[in-house]
Amino acid sequence: DFAPANHRPLFGRRILITAGPTHEPIDPVRYIANRSSGKQGFAIAAAAAEAGAEVLLIAGPVPLPTPPGVIRVDVETAREMAAEVEAGLPTDAAIMVAAVADWRAADTSAQKIKKDGSGRVPPLALAENPDILASLAKSPRRPPLLVGFAAETNDVIAHAEAKLARKGCDWIVANDVAADPMGGETNRVHIVGKNGVDSWERLPKEAVARKLMEKIADELDTRIP
Ligand code: CTP
Ligand code: CA
Repeated sequence: DFAPANHRPLFGRRILITAGPTHEPIDPVRYIANRSSGKQGFAIAAAAAEAGAEVLLIAGPVPLPTPPGVIRVDVETAREMAAEVEAGLPTDAAIMVAAVADWRAADTSAQKIKKDGSGRVPPLALAENPDILASLAKSPRRPPLLVGFAAETNDVIAHAEAKLARKGCDWIVANDVAADPMGGETNRVHIVGKNGVDSWERLPKEAVARKLMEKIADELDTRIP
């Protein structure tokens, strides 16, 4: 028949997305970071907005333009990201694409740490950051659909299954960063859920984003018709 395809399958849905790395300061000129480019998370935000959703993108420090129609809040640290996620609730779905720094400097220096000329190195004590995804999963305001991401270098599906159980989310989108290094243009993802694994071919990050939005729209239509 000639019925038009539904091009806005997420119309009326509110979606929260985290993206990019976090930066954890050591002193005013130094920080701890990771290789996340933010490209996959920004592509997901763009695809969600194109699919008609109201999108809140909580972004770590990345030099990427804000996708059309997306509300963006910039953060630097994991703790700032956690606070903005909390402030962004409630939502129908949350997709946690950010590569949140696992550890921050236990103490930050208000002044630049200087070499003292002795050749001794300063101690760098670390503290664990809050797990934003795991906390959200336990929260009374847990979104009906909660999706985590996992970049792994080995045993991708086994690690993702363990992570799914540990974090209490609905899906883990796992990708092999040994095959598709962080910062690249493509991802080969496995969507790991309680009822099995959906493995996709290697695709540009924009295509992964669009396909994921179709899957999320279908899932939301089943859960909250
Ligand atoms: N995540 C989070 N807060 C953290 C760490 C991770 O919200 N402090 C989220 C990420 O955004 C991602 C998911 O949890 O959606 C999995 O992140 P990952 O780093 O793979 O999990 P970890 O539990 O930190 O395990 P690992 O030791 O493999 O880094
Ligand atoms: Ca981690």
